[in-house]
Amino acid sequence: MTSKRNILVTSALPYASGPLHLGHFVEYTQTDVWARFQRMQGNRCIYVCASDAHGTPTMLRAESLGISPEKLVSEIAEDHRRDFENFSIDVDNYQTTHSDENKELTAEIYKRLKKSGHITRHTIKQAYDTQKSLFLPDRYVRGECPSCGAKDQYGDSCEKCSATYTPMDLKNPVSVVSGTKPSVRESEHLFFKLENFQEELRTWVPGHVDDSMVNKLNEWLETGLKDWDISRDAPYFGFEIPGEDKKYFYVWFDATIGYMASFLELCRKLNCEKEFDDFWTENNNTELYHFLGKDIIYFHALFWPSVLSGAGYRKPSGIFVHGFLTVNGEKMSKSRGTFIMASTYSKYLDPDYLRYYLAAKLSSGVDDIDLNFDDFIARVNADLVGKLVNIASRCSGFVHKYGKGQLSNTLPNKNLLDNFITAGEKISTDFESRNYSKAIRQIMKLADLANQFIDEEKPWIKAKDKNKTEQVVQACTLGINLFRILIIYLKPITPALAKRAEDFLNIPPLTWSCANKPLRGHSINKFKSLLERIDPKDIEAMIEETRKNFSEDEPSVSKPEEKIDIDLFSKIDMRIAQIMEANIVEGADKLLELKLNLGDNERTVFSGIRSAYKPEDLKDRHVVVVANLKPRKMRFGTSDGMVLAAGPGNKDIFLLSPDNGAEPGMKVK
Ligand code: 2FM
Ligand code: ZN
Repeated sequence: MTSKRNILVTSALPYASGPLHLGHFVEYTQTDVWARFQRMQGNRCIYVCASDAHGTPTMLRAESLGISPEKLVSEIAEDHRRDFENFSIDVDNYQTTHSDENKELTAEIYKRLKKSGHITRHTIKQAYDTQKSLFLPDRYVRGECPSCGAKDQYGDSCEKCSATYTPMDLKNPVSVVSGTKPSVRESEHLFFKLENFQEELRTWVPGHVDDSMVNKLNEWLETGLKDWDISRDAPYFGFEIPGEDKKYFYVWFDATIGYMASFLELCRKLNCEKEFDDFWTENNNTELYHFLGKDIIYFHALFWPSVLSGAGYRKPSGIFVHGFLTVNGEKMSKSRGTFIMASTYSKYLDPDYLRYYLAAKLSSGVDDIDLNFDDFIARVNADLVGKLVNIASRCSGFVHKYGKGQLSNTLPNKNLLDNFITAGEKISTDFESRNYSKAIRQIMKLADLANQFIDEEKPWIKAKDKNKTEQVVQACTLGINLFRILIIYLKPITPALAKRAEDFLNIPPLTWSCANKPLRGHSINKFKSLLERIDPKDIEAMIEETRKNFSEDEPSVSKPEEKIDIDLFSKIDMRIAQIMEANIVEGADKLLELKLNLGDNERTVFSGIRSAYKPEDLKDRHVVVVANLKPRKMRFGTSDGMVLAAGPGNKDIFLLSPDNGAEPGMKVK
């Protein structure tokens, strides 16, 4: 007997600055299916994840919502947890990287790296937003590409000509945060000496990363590895670097350490901290695998093993890389309604459908995966409902009618049953190597054989002959057993469906080895629908809701300044309005709903001033309103105009207040 494996797996940690979308679930499905498969094999497989809390985007998003970054992170992590649960992503622990464990481990790793001479200092030049007093990450500066002149490009690379550069090279650069021109400031940063690990990585990479990525990594290794900047200056949301003044660890430095931290928290919860060393020090007969997208391979296959090695920890046993999700053949798009949030999906559709469809397309390669909705409907309805569930629904009625719900003791067609049982070995090899698409092809071929058997047996005809009812129950007993084996093989992929099937079969949770022991003389429950067909209307509704959600959202970043002429400006109809009523908007942290009196008419306007004003203090106040703004549909209702205010945000939002003598409806000149 082979001994039980001890495995720790992770999925890349989603950013805590926003919610999860279907693109994320390629990876979580891939990881979860693998982890569930390992557990069904009798191995120990621990799956940990967390929300990636730190960095400038989280800080700015929290600021724009008028809440602390800690509050934002804990709220978003709660949403992430709920989405994981809805999609049956069975993590053993889910924390955020803004945790005590992560702080402790990040400091410890930094200390060890410093002690071993892997940390150095360089003074660098960086784009700085003087208005916001903020060093700008590359992606927060936009301008014209220095190579081809393309407009509105990010500060690190050009989407048109693929040139790479620094934000300082951009022509006419603009800070995305304030819309102003950034200046250049010098500052001393801490660097991890990646070059010290060049040789070690050269031998480590080929055996630990999928072949499809090795060439790319070798290219980087051949060009030579540069020191990695691991510090950021205040203001920054992150962990302060011990021994430094107002310097913080760069989000990517503590993010990967977040894998260890989430596991450490789990060990502490379970009171078995010794396990932490078993999994994170060398030679303990434990395995560690990271699942991730191809865009973050540099961090995981070069930085991360080097950091681990430099700090005296074990390196991963494998890095499993996948491609991106496209929807209907194109990048996910907000305007087309295909940038679908996990929470929107689960409102309309069963998450097992998506798990099945993604698994049917997943292999161990890095090709992108397309979610084509017509194909999605056809495949789920044909495979899961038409082929699989149909086997149980075709057989169970006869078992109840002629066998009192009890399966027979004898099974016909031993060959067919053996064929199903022996297929398990090849299918398990495909699960192990993450070739889920191949596993599903085999499972569906078996489902075809089961249906063919029932077609040939024709129990509905035989049952008419009283002498043949026992034969009917036996044939249907085999049918039910074939169904059960298919459920075993699909259980890592469609766990919720498997659970309903176990209830119908009246059995405890199935494991992989159950396939060898068919059910005989066992009572099953009455058949209830195990899975509904997908109704295309639900997909339309989901897409429509997605499109609406995005069209109602306010833009979150300032655009570069565009000049307007006086004629355009004079078209703005500014009027005095009196606030008759101000109300909090449930579900919108920033907004107040204002009922306004404009003299000859009354309107409702949603205004993002909640962080600075209490509704009760606004009653009867006079404000300036843009009266001829086209009404905008928002998630909470229609906003008919705009109340003018200015200021940096939070408590400092100043309403333009007209003179005392102003009357509602008066024009402002
Ligand atoms: O790319 C991302 O979404 C990152 N938040 C992944 C971090 S993975 C790990 F390093 F924590
Ligand atoms: Zn260019």
